[in-house]
Amino acid sequence: MRVILDGKELDIRAIWLEDRDRGIVKMIDQRVLPWKLDFFVSRSSEDTAMAIERMIVRGAPTIGVTGAYGVYQAVLESINEREFIEVLEGKVKRIQQTRPTAVNLFNVTEKMFLEIKKRYEGGYSSREIIEVAYDLAERIADKEVEANRKIGEYGEKLIRDGSSILTHCNAGALAAVDIGTALAPIRTAYKKGKKLVVYVDETRPWLQGARLTAWELEMEGIPYYLISDNAAGYYMWRGEIDLVIVGADRITRGGDIANKIGTYKLAVVANENGIPFYVAAPLSTFDMRIQAGSEIPIEERSSDEILYVRGYDDDLMEVRRVLVSLKEAKVRNPVFDITPSKYVTGIITEFGVLKSERDIEEALSRYRIDHD
Ligand code: MRU
Repeated sequence: MRVILDGKELDIRAIWLEDRDRGIVKMIDQRVLPWKLDFFVSRSSEDTAMAIERMIVRGAPTIGVTGAYGVYQAVLESINEREFIEVLEGKVKRIQQTRPTAVNLFNVTEKMFLEIKKRYEGGYSSREIIEVAYDLAERIADKEVEANRKIGEYGEKLIRDGSSILTHCNAGALAAVDIGTALAPIRTAYKKGKKLVVYVDETRPWLQGARLTAWELEMEGIPYYLISDNAAGYYMWRGEIDLVIVGADRITRGGDIANKIGTYKLAVVANENGIPFYVAAPLSTFDMRIQAGSEIPIEERSSDEILYVRGYDDDLMEVRRVLVSLKEAKVRNPVFDITPSKYVTGIITEFGVLKSERDIEEALSRYRIDHD
């Protein structure tokens, strides 16, 4: 993604392995954007787990890739242990338990763990095991970016010249290592010269739309309006939105979608108004073990995220948080919801736009062949 750092234009990913031998991972700190472009340096698998937990990095594909680098760090940390596999398994579990909804984290780290275990039991040397873990982590990151590029190609065809597109949360490069999922078709269409404007939901409480999506679009020069979450229905009703594109944190075999809280409401209103509602996600976001959205665990985060708003104080020139309710208010803060498949026009993936359970099954078998 294009960023400006100290006046210089750079093309970077949301996360990368900075030092292979020492297992140092560097990532954009998403808590302080757009006011500051800062980086978090992770020196251990525990640092990496904490970075996911505290949302220094977020977004399903980025969380998955962060987990993959965390497993690589865990291998470096435990390769000389007598009980290598047991120690590694404990560290992998710690990473997997940081955030429950985005399935990429589980899919990616479990695959890495099983591959490493197989090699270890097959008598590979320590050096070879480290090499395998490194290759897997880098391959997972590269494949994710390649999937996004393809999502961009397929999704761009759905965007007509002059379109207004509504999006929710941040499903851009920050959330998907590079390019993005929901933002991929938008970036591609814009690069191809199509005129478009993006309506960006602010996305309370964490403000992924206001802080991150707006920042990414600004960096690329793509036209957008930032709107309050509550304004989305009004613009759909007025006929000012041509299509909706959002990302996903987990998609079931039956095509139900878990995504940022508020997505369900958008899908229902889009349907009511005859507006196509697309979900853009790589196959790493699918969970073949479950059929119905009701089986997806929904993360609940701290009440502080609702009670306080974080923002930049122009006068003091610092990031501050202020209370927006009573300190003693009882709060519920689910951060994802479920959109039933009946509201989804299509799922834009690296294997094309999927419109039925059969499409999902076919895409998944192609994905398995590609990833074995
Ligand atoms: O809580 P977050 O910010 O990790 O939630 C992110 C989302 O809900 C995104 O829409 C989803 O992960 C898709 S990201 C390409």
